[in-house]
Amino acid sequence: MAEKNEFFKSKLVQDFTKDIRQYHLGPLWEAIPELMHRQPEPHAKAYLWKWDLLHKKLMEAAEIFTPERGGERRAIYLQNPGLEYRQPWGWASTTQTLYAAVQLIQPGETAPSHRHSQSALRFITQGEGAYSIVQGERIFMEEGDFLVTPKNLWHGHGHLGTEPMIWMDCLDIPTLYSMGGTFFEPYPEKIEEPSVPDNFSAQRYEGGMVRPISDHYPKMAPVGSYKWSQTLKAIDGLSRFDPDPYDGYAVEYINPSTGETANLNIGSWVQKLPKGFHSKAHRHTHASIYHVFKGSGYSIINGVRFDWSKGDYFVIPNWAWHEHVAEAETYFFSVNDLPIMEKFDVEQSQAYETNNGYQEAKEEFKPVMA
Ligand SMILES: [Fe+2]
Ligand SMILES: [Fe+2]
Repeated sequence: MAEKNEFFKSKLVQDFTKDIRQYHLGPLWEAIPELMHRQPEPHAKAYLWKWDLLHKKLMEAAEIFTPERGGERRAIYLQNPGLEYRQPWGWASTTQTLYAAVQLIQPGETAPSHRHSQSALRFITQGEGAYSIVQGERIFMEEGDFLVTPKNLWHGHGHLGTEPMIWMDCLDIPTLYSMGGTFFEPYPEKIEEPSVPDNFSAQRYEGGMVRPISDHYPKMAPVGSYKWSQTLKAIDGLSRFDPDPYDGYAVEYINPSTGETANLNIGSWVQKLPKGFHSKAHRHTHASIYHVFKGSGYSIINGVRFDWSKGDYFVIPNWAWHEHVAEAETYFFSVNDLPIMEKFDVEQSQAYETNNGYQEAKEEFKPVMA
């Protein structure tokens, strides 16, 4: 929008603006420059959480409480500092649209079954021996596995192993909250009883590129979990060729029945950056949340350097210039709201043209430590 001219600052207009507001009416002439930007200006900020802090707080939480009905999960979410003003609870927003958290379950614990209109996914970062039970299927989880829990399916967690188990959760909580589309229901018992064999869906899809003929017509999430060994094979195959200039060797999780993203509203990727890889900078409408599964290096986001190492999480907000530098061989797991942007047909991207595509880091982000 053009700058407002003097007329809009006149007493006549200002008085009228004030007058209509008492009737719960609004002046578009005032609002439009702040609400309809030339390009995205998200309130979410670029930010980074160190693993040492997250791990410490999860272990402290484990001393204080167990996952019970009502609280449901021992999950600590990544609150974007630019979205704290959303009330209540900053709408649990890591980006404008997505919630991300770290969750800990201890051996012998049960996190109660429930279902909700938010769709969820998780990526296992530490441990083994715990399972998610989704619509009667116990899905056992190991490091690097990726799981989907589509909206409105019953799901709970149990842990039959011997060590603490930690994973990353991502849900579309802020999106559903802003839409007024939230439904939540506890399961009548604490946790569902299995009704199909363990790891049923993964076994049905072991071939990868073929599907059971009974799934000829598309189904919602025919596969509940995606094993790390399979994902790694795909990355290894890609790694024989040239990397993507912005993202290295990257794959996205899909629903094998439809070819669409594994989670309807949340994109999820694994990418490898070889040691020494320096991506070109670009920006796009969608926002991303990164987890450093292995490796170390830094990203430059809008001219600020964010150093990261194994276990850290960071946010790239909408339309922020970003590039990654791997100082050791790095594997990222990341989530993004590209599917949401695509549904509204607002996704755009742009390459950084100056300085041969590389930003200059003008400052360094200082992480908050415990
Ligand atoms: Fe849930
Ligand atoms: Fe990007």
